[in-house]
Amino acid sequence: MRVTISRKAHFNAAHRLYRKDWTFEKNDAVFGKCNNPNYHGHNYDLIVGVTGAIDPETGYVMDIKILSDIIKEEVEDQFDHKNLNVDVPEFENLNPTAENIVVVIWNKIRKRINVEFDLEVVLYETPRNFVTYRGE
Ligand code: NI
Repeated sequence: MRVTISRKAHFNAAHRLYRKDWTFEKNDAVFGKCNNPNYHGHNYDLIVGVTGAIDPETGYVMDIKILSDIIKEEVEDQFDHKNLNVDVPEFENLNPTAENIVVVIWNKIRKRINVEFDLEVVLYETPRNFVTYRGE
């Protein structure tokens, strides 16, 4: 019997989508408004799900307060009110698309979660646009 526990979190951040090795014209053609040199912001929401067996002693899969603290330390403290391109080392040479951001977040949280659990991260860049990564 495996149960998924989930925690929602939030951060605001700026980014610009572009490749340093492409011309402005090519970046503009591929990324459009997202290539604005002065950056633009999003209100990111994420849902972190941890799936595992219920511990018969505690009745928990894992203590959701611990999951909440991990998300705060690994994501909110490092991304909130930041410029992802400029302030976050993981994106120095990685385009901060929602796809790449969700993989970076998953990798950071994965290191802190017991190996016996499965991890899923859903990242909303807008209320209608979201991406999911399960480490596959
Ligand atoms: Ni954007």
